[in-house]
Amino acid sequence: MVGYREVRRLWQDDPIDFWRAAAKQIDWISAPENILDRSRAPLYHWYPDGVLNTCANALDRQVAAGRGDQVAIYYDSPLTDSKQAITYRELLDQVALFAGGLASLGVHKSDRVLIYMPMVPQAAVAMLACARLGAVHSVVFGGFAAAELAARIDDAEPVVIVSASCGIEPGRIVEYQPIVEEAIKLAGHKPTAVVVLQRAQSPAVLGAREVDWQELMATATEHDFVPVHANDPLYILYTSGTTGKPKGVVRDNGGHAVAMAWSFTNVYGMGAGDVWWAASDIGWVVGHSYIVYAPLICGATTVMYEGKPVGTPDAGAFWRMIEEYRVNGLFVAPTAIRAIRKEDAAGSHLSQYDLTSLRTLFLAGERLDPSTFEWASEQLGIPVVDNWWQTESGWPIASNLRGLDPMPIKSGSPSVIVPGYEVRILDAQGKEEPPGTEGAIVIKLPMPPGTLPTLWGDDQRFIDSYLTVFPGYYTTGDGGYFDEDQYLHVMGRTDDVINVAGHRLSTGSMEAVVAANSMVAECAVIGVHDELKGQIPRAFVVLKAGVEVDPMVLRATIVAAVRDEIGPVAALKEVVVVSALPKTRSGKILRATMRSIADGREFVVPSTIEDIAVLEAITPLLHGEITAD
Ligand code: COA
Ligand code: AMP
Repeated sequence: MVGYREVRRLWQDDPIDFWRAAAKQIDWISAPENILDRSRAPLYHWYPDGVLNTCANALDRQVAAGRGDQVAIYYDSPLTDSKQAITYRELLDQVALFAGGLASLGVHKSDRVLIYMPMVPQAAVAMLACARLGAVHSVVFGGFAAAELAARIDDAEPVVIVSASCGIEPGRIVEYQPIVEEAIKLAGHKPTAVVVLQRAQSPAVLGAREVDWQELMATATEHDFVPVHANDPLYILYTSGTTGKPKGVVRDNGGHAVAMAWSFTNVYGMGAGDVWWAASDIGWVVGHSYIVYAPLICGATTVMYEGKPVGTPDAGAFWRMIEEYRVNGLFVAPTAIRAIRKEDAAGSHLSQYDLTSLRTLFLAGERLDPSTFEWASEQLGIPVVDNWWQTESGWPIASNLRGLDPMPIKSGSPSVIVPGYEVRILDAQGKEEPPGTEGAIVIKLPMPPGTLPTLWGDDQRFIDSYLTVFPGYYTTGDGGYFDEDQYLHVMGRTDDVINVAGHRLSTGSMEAVVAANSMVAECAVIGVHDELKGQIPRAFVVLKAGVEVDPMVLRATIVAAVRDEIGPVAALKEVVVVSALPKTRSGKILRATMRSIADGREFVVPSTIEDIAVLEAITPLLHGEITAD
């Protein structure tokens, strides 16, 4: 850990100098002289006088450096039985052309473009084209329904939406166009155009507002990159918060580019010419940072996969990919590994492939349980590296730094704090907890480049949501502790965010849908343990007096409502009718206590509890499996 300690000390001694040096990995149109603007604390801005273009760093400079013929994107879609290798030169051409197409539709610097697309290379083209124009993209995950899309349209107010005729899930085609149309109908803001990528599996009939991707490309002229200030936003990524209204996490251009280059090299140990596969979706932060931006900014080859870890066609799907593309680094959510293990515990599929190219397996997005860690380590015989971070940070906060200083790996911990972050464990009064004692995980301000500078159009919400509970610190929403070796252990969320199959969801927004049912008096949605998905939402419902309903009918109604309002990704499948919910004497539902019981964490029964018997009755229902009826 000598290298790690040294670099951390360098950063602690002079963070400004540290981030000035790191910025040299980026091509600036005008290099920053001022490294950190503290004048609006607690809002901080990195590289305020720097001017650059993120797309130029990802593409133009790679071509200029002689990487034009290197593959930039391998696209592999077992769901459509298609494959493509796109070189840096080809990608630059497509992006410049699509940027020209967007400009012809009226998209200019700082305008927003909403991208609602499946895992196809055109999704990356659309993102990079926005970056080229200095426009701000907002990618929405395909598993969200029209109402969620509408909320994002109203918040981001996009000039244009870029979509596809359909997405493909195993066994079904997801028609995107009706969802986009419905969302536009629901939203107050109306975009001027919707660009539709027609897919052979289900082409759409285009209406007056819609423009065919191919036709747009056929008539467009290539657009050069537009210089932007480092603090100009690159994208908005909506993520679940504690209320139903999603939070628009803003990412700037300059700090983000520096953080991508620094983390890809130092945390993931990857670089130019490497083949890197982040098996996530462009709708999540992993997709933004490590499918699109970091690998391209560093001149690596990125793999885009449209498929599942199992069943497309079998539990060998991932291993086939590694062999075929000679993948050097793989990044997935633990859920994906659990899904593979469930189908192929003995690793018989795995042993059929040549996996010698793979140096490291990175796992993140949810807690890495020791048994998944051990299985993957044994099967692959390479380092299995947990890394902890979130949409807001944009890059790892805690990890084993494979490029800087590989260190011993401990099951159950994402290892150490990445230089740039100062993490503390605090109790409810803001006092620091000693090693071994769990508390709130917070980060001392200012956070490093690449982390969120604010929430879209709402500085006050940013301050209220993250910076107010512990003044001087950013509250991560996770609880955990340091051990004696200063390794961090992340135990789970302390708010109503849950992680279902690596997908971040708000139980608060599910509760809003459940509570709207006319039969429901009150409810609580709690994330309970699931063998495959890590957590799944379970709704506890108290019926209104006099209501009698078949539990199966109630369940079907509520499940359908959540699917319609939030989307299939919400994955609420379990509804339990209870006679009462545990509450304080003042009538507040004890959600935090219920969460602790469900997570198997230590908790203290509040002295203000109204009736301990209600809590005791619900406790078994917070554990383990329940049957559908
Ligand atoms: N568009 C439309 N629907 C989608 C979707 C998308 N992009 N992604 C998921 N869905 C749907 C699924 O089809 C499923 O629908 P169903 O209820 O009709 O079956 C529902 O949303 C729930 O999806 P999911 O929770 O992913 O379950 P699954 O059974 O389809 O797949 C896994 C399970 C484990 C294979 C899958 O979740 C997985 O690969 N997880 C890895 C997660 C990941 O990469 N996370 C990114 C953060 S690192
Ligand atoms: P997201 O914003 O979707 O990336 O989700 C971030 C949340 O996922 C974090 O706040 C954690 O609760 C959880 N998470 C992500 N990575 C890990 C990890 N390695 N270990 C434990 N929890 C994680």
